[in-house]
Amino acid sequence: MQKENQDIVVAILIGSLFILLFGFVAFMVMINYFRRKRKLLLEKEKQEAYFKQTLLEAQLEMQEHTFRIISQEIHDNVGQILSLAKINLNIITIEQKENESFHTIKDLVTNAIGELRDLGTGYYADRLVEEGLIHAIRHQLQQLNKTGLFTTSFESEFESLPVEKNKIIFLYRMVQEVLNNVVKHSGADKVSIHIFKKDDEVHIQVSDNGKGFVKSSAGFKPGIGLSSIQQRALMIDATADISSIPGTGTTVNLIFKQII
Ligand SMILES: Nc1ncnc2c1ncn2[C@@H]1O[C@H](COP(=O)(O)OP(=O)(O)OP(=O)(O)O)[C@@H](O)[C@H]1O
Ligand SMILES: [Mg+2]
Repeated sequence: MQKENQDIVVAILIGSLFILLFGFVAFMVMINYFRRKRKLLLEKEKQEAYFKQTLLEAQLEMQEHTFRIISQEIHDNVGQILSLAKINLNIITIEQKENESFHTIKDLVTNAIGELRDLGTGYYADRLVEEGLIHAIRHQLQQLNKTGLFTTSFESEFESLPVEKNKIIFLYRMVQEVLNNVVKHSGADKVSIHIFKKDDEVHIQVSDNGKGFVKSSAGFKPGIGLSSIQQRALMIDATADISSIPGTGTTVNLIFKQII
């Protein structure tokens, strides 16, 4: 009888040991499973981010390429037609030249050729790098001023900015989009650009006195512009602070580390 009891105790002990062992193994397998799942998830996220970045880079490169082709096409084709029109205007008879509208047409054609030259030679990569960011931004603002729709002001602590070549084109395109938005949406009559240094960082601050916007409002329609500004900033280690007050205006501040 005593022997029987002993056997039962041993059987219970061995059984408990098995259950414990089984529990331990199951626990380890589960931990391993969750670890691997997390690792795979992280890898997937990393791959997705990399894919997104590569896609954006390709898109931006393509955009630059398209800008260049369109600029050259406009310059070569429409520019040539206008130049021919100007030559023809010069060879018409003296009596016809006395007509007042002749001078108006000639002025218009001359202006159109000038405008087209600005547009045709466009600020794409090579010219930007050659002339520098400050010059290009000032020029862009002058173009706005020329429309007569805006009073513009430009202030810069720098005559030139030592910015890496590949960053110049990004920063310029960002400023261009900000100014495009001012023209398209703001209804402003004043635009200012202030470029200054603060705590070892360069700020390019573009402000308008237009109607402003609220991102969370029902009427707000997001486009590609604002998000491409944020994405471009991310890619060059810059920050784009976009603040807008309805009825007061919008300020976009592009902030990046200066490199010497
Ligand atoms: N300076 C501004 N003043 C007033 N509203 C603005 C200004 N900038 C942007 N917005 C508002 O933010 C919205 C989103 O701008 P975003 O640049 O992303 O798109 P979009 O200009 O409409 O289109 P896209 O840039 O893709 O051509 C605009 O539709 C507009 O309502
Ligand atoms: Mg836009």
